[in-house]
Amino acid sequence: MPYLTILRYPDPRLYRKAAPVPSVDDSVRALVRDMAETMYAAPGVGLAATQVDVLKQVIVIDASERRDRLLTLINPVLLEKEGTQYCEEGCLSVPGVYERVERAARIKVRALGLSGESFELAAEEMLAVCIQHEMDHLEGKMFVDYLSRLKQTRIRARMQKLLRKSA
Ligand code: NI
Repeated sequence: MPYLTILRYPDPRLYRKAAPVPSVDDSVRALVRDMAETMYAAPGVGLAATQVDVLKQVIVIDASERRDRLLTLINPVLLEKEGTQYCEEGCLSVPGVYERVERAARIKVRALGLSGESFELAAEEMLAVCIQHEMDHLEGKMFVDYLSRLKQTRIRARMQKLLRKSA
């Protein structure tokens, strides 16, 4: 299977909202498989379907050191959030850019898994950051949007330069 193409900031398609998946069927499982392969190959710790131009509420994350704990969140809903943490974040859609963003320290989410089963997950530290970052993608929001206008302008210029180089 060829890897999926990851949209690059500031592509306007990254700013669209994903829709809930009506049922977790084979096509959704195939999407998850392709997204996971794409994320591992990149390599990255998380990928949202919006980033591969699919407007479905599907996220894959692997924040483990050994890269052997794939987490799939379908139709994720934030149930609780608490506290504050600042973590340096990166994004496969904004290569080479790492910036500190404010996030909740602890969260609880409900989502569907690969067999369509509903589960709840409590997360903190880096995993909580990843989940919040990826859930933002499903809402059409980028971590860059939290930064100052000046930083956003610089990042845009940098991405456009990268784009010209690869063209
Ligand atoms: Ni991202």
